Amino acid sequence: MSKQTLERILQSQGFGTRKWCASLLAEGEVSLSGEVVTDTRAKFETDGLEFSVYGEPWLYREHVYIALHKPADYECSRKPSHHPGVLSLLPEQFSNRDVQPVGRLDHDTTGLLLMSDDGAFIHKQSSPKHHVPKVYVATTHDAVTPQLVEHLLKGVKLNDEPAPLAAVICEQLGEHQLKIVLEQGKYHQVKRMLAAAGNHCSALCRTQIGELSLEALALEAGEWGYLDTRELALLKPL
Ligand code: URA
Repeated sequence: MSKQTLERILQSQGFGTRKWCASLLAEGEVSLSGEVVTDTRAKFETDGLEFSVYGEPWLYREHVYIALHKPADYECSRKPSHHPGVLSLLPEQFSNRDVQPVGRLDHDTTGLLLMSDDGAFIHKQSSPKHHVPKVYVATTHDAVTPQLVEHLLKGVKLNDEPAPLAAVICEQLGEHQLKIVLEQGKYHQVKRMLAAAGNHCSALCRTQIGELSLEALALEAGEWGYLDTRELALLKPL
């Protein structure tokens, strides 16, 4: 619980510099419970605080935890070079408060991407010690064979990895489609594993992280949503 001035609250929520937030207040663009607030000195309890800026409602959040259904042709990098960045799919307040992707998906990979401004959460979720299974659906160039499935389950040796990497689960979904569950998050891991096993990944979608699935979140490509505590609890190791 903490009380802060609206100027500080707006700044913490990504509405801009303190000076800019002060001007939003002075211009009558900020309301609490339908009442315009212009007093820059009044302090408000941040916990559960609902406010609106330019008539748009917001809830105070110390940190944000977001699920994005990443479409193809967006980069996870903070300085995207060939395609727009995933942050461009979110309100600009989130870039201002330093929301970042948790790990990376390739520009052509679609599916579930977590984003947050909570450094400890990002660190924990991206740590190699945190074995949260990630479920991918891969479309393959060549038809899936039982040998391919077996190879991916047994482990494949990748160039810069000391030990073979294996899928925790690998199931054929269709003639050219596989479900692959991985516990690590190495660079281009699914594509490199498929290539090392003699096939080629022509499309990739991450459908689930831990027990949090894109289907349950019901997000269309390009849509995002806040994760609540129940959903965050689904991001657990096996
Ligand atoms: N594996 C890949 O090859 N690419 C991704 O984007 C994610 C996992």
